[in-house]
Amino acid sequence: MGKGQRAINAYKSTEYIEQPRDKDGLLIGRKSADPFKLVPESSSLLLQQKEQAGTVAAAAPVAAKAPESSARESGGEDAAHELAAVPTFILVTTYLSFLMLIVFAHMRDFFGKMFHPEEYTQLRVQNGYAPIVSDFESLWVRRLYGRIRDCFNRPITGVAGGRVSLLERYSMDFNRSFQFTGRLNNVLNLASYNYLGFAQSEGPCADKVEEAMREGGITQGSTRSEVGCTRLLADTEDMVARFVGAEAAIIVSMGYATNALNIPTLASKGSLIISDELNHSSLVAGARLSGAAIHVFRHNNVRDLEKVLRRSIAQGQPRTHRPWKKILVIVEGLYSMEGEFCNLPEIIELRRRYKFHLFVDEAHSIGALGKRGRGICDHFGVDPREVDVLMGTFTKSFGATGGYIAGSRALIDHLRVNSLSAVYAEAMSVPVLAQVSSSMRMIMGEDREHALEGQQRLDQLALNSRYFAQGLKNLGFMTLGNPGSPVVPLLLFNPAKIPAFSRECLRRNVAVVVVSYPATPIITGRVRFCISASHTREDLDYALEQISEIGDLLMLKFHKGDVSAGANSKAIEYAAKMD
Ligand SMILES: Cc1ncc(COP(=O)(O)O)c(C=O)c1O
Repeated sequence: MGKGQRAINAYKSTEYIEQPRDKDGLLIGRKSADPFKLVPESSSLLLQQKEQAGTVAAAAPVAAKAPESSARESGGEDAAHELAAVPTFILVTTYLSFLMLIVFAHMRDFFGKMFHPEEYTQLRVQNGYAPIVSDFESLWVRRLYGRIRDCFNRPITGVAGGRVSLLERYSMDFNRSFQFTGRLNNVLNLASYNYLGFAQSEGPCADKVEEAMREGGITQGSTRSEVGCTRLLADTEDMVARFVGAEAAIIVSMGYATNALNIPTLASKGSLIISDELNHSSLVAGARLSGAAIHVFRHNNVRDLEKVLRRSIAQGQPRTHRPWKKILVIVEGLYSMEGEFCNLPEIIELRRRYKFHLFVDEAHSIGALGKRGRGICDHFGVDPREVDVLMGTFTKSFGATGGYIAGSRALIDHLRVNSLSAVYAEAMSVPVLAQVSSSMRMIMGEDREHALEGQQRLDQLALNSRYFAQGLKNLGFMTLGNPGSPVVPLLLFNPAKIPAFSRECLRRNVAVVVVSYPATPIITGRVRFCISASHTREDLDYALEQISEIGDLLMLKFHKGDVSAGANSKAIEYAAKMD
C-alpha cells in the first residue's frame, strides 16, 4: 500500500462514522470516535426533533454542537509559521518560473509586433487615439492568464449547491475561444460561497421567495430613499439589526457597493482610513472614493496597526499637521483568501486606547462564524456595540445577494439620507429580501416550522470545516487559516501547478477555485476550498482522496503528514467534544 493510500485510509477509517438515525433520518444517537460507544442524543433534543419531523436540513446529516471559540486560535502566526517551512527549492523555482513566464511573454510580444503587427493594433496609437488598454495589462492577460483561462469563468447551470453542473467546453485555439459539447458535468462544488447551504431552488426559503415574488414582483423601480422602501425591506433591516446586535441597519442591493458607496459617506478629506493590506477590493474602492488619506498596516498584525496609529496621530494631516477629523480602521472579520479571522479582541483594545472608529466587513464571517452564526463578534464573545460599523453581505451564508451596514441609529439615519447607495441605487428586490429574511429567521431559530434547522446547518458547517482542514493537514499539505474557517486555502506555489491542480480536480469531478498573483503575493498561489453545510462526509472524503492523489502527482505534500491510524485525531477530538 502506497503512502498516499495509507494516508487516505488513516483519516477515513478512524474519522468517518455513520451516525445512527431513525426511519425519518433523525439522529437517534451519535457514535463517538470509539466505534462501539454510542452516545444517546439527549431526550429533549430528540423530542424536539420529533416535533419538527420532516424539517431536518436535508443537507445536514450530522447534528453537533458548535465549536467553542478560542480568542487565541491565531491564524496569522500559523501562516507565518507555514511559510517559514517552505523548502528553499520551492521558493526559488516559483520565482524563476514567474520570471521565465514574463521574460518569454515579452520576447514573444517583441517579435510578434515585429513580424505580425496586424495582431497588435489595439496596443498602438491609431489615427491619433491612444490605446485603450495598457501594454503590460494586455500582455498579462494574453500571455499568462490566457494560457490558463479554462480554469476560470467556467459556465454553470442550475443551483450552485454542494454539487453544481458545469457546461462542458473545450478550446481548439489555446483558450482564445471555447466551444460547448452540449454535455453537463455534475461535480462536487468546493468553489462557491454557500456556507450554510442556503443556495437552494427548493425548500422553505425558496417557497417564501416564490410567494414574495408573486406578491411584490421583482423590482421597485426606485431607490430606497424615493419609493423603493417596501415593508419587507424595513422589516428585514430591523431583523438584520437584531441579528447582529446593533441598534439599526440599512440594506444595499449589492455587497460590493455596500462598501464602495458607503465608506465615502463615513470618511472624507481630512479623515484618515487605516486599512489592512489584504482588505477586499470593495473596501479599497470605497476608501479611495472617499478622498480620505489612506494608510495601510501589515495583514492582521495588531502591533503594526498600533505603530501606524501612533505615527499617524503624532504627525496629523499632511502639511498642516492638524489633527485628523476622524480615524476609521477597516478590517475584515474573516479574510476570504487566507481563511483567517481578524484579531478582533486586540483591535478593540486599541480602539479603546486610541479612540478610532472601527469598521468590520463581515462578508464571510456573518452566518458562518460563532455559536449562533452571528459572525466574528459572536466567535470571540465580543459585544457588537464595540464595533462602530458592522458591514456584511447576504451572498455567502444566506444564499441571496446584497449587503448591509449595521450600527448606532445615528449612523444608520446618516446613511439613509447621505449614502450614494440609498439615494442613487435601486432598492433591494423583494424576492431577495424574502430569501434573506427566511434564512436569517431559520438561523435565529425563529421559524417555528424549522426551529432546529438553522442551528444544525451552523453545526454542520463548523464540523465540516474542521474535518476537511484537518484532513488536508494530515495528508501533509500546507494550508492556511484558522481552525473552523469555512475557507481553507492550500498552497500550490509554482505557477504551473495552479492550472494543473484545477484541471486535475475537474477531471475527477471536483470544482475548485485557484488563485494566483496579482490576487495573492507572488509566492503564495493557492487553491481556495469553500466548505458548506451541504457537503456530506462522503463528499469531503471523496474530495480528500482525490486531492491526496493530485498532491502526490504535483508534489504538494510538504509536511510529513500523519498517516498513522487515528491521523485525524484533532478532528476526532473535536467531534468527541461535540458529543
Ligand atoms: C470581504 C468582502 N467584502 C465585500 C464583498 C462583496 O460582496 P458581494 O460579492 O456580495 O458583492 C466580498 C465578496 O466576496 C468580500 O469578500
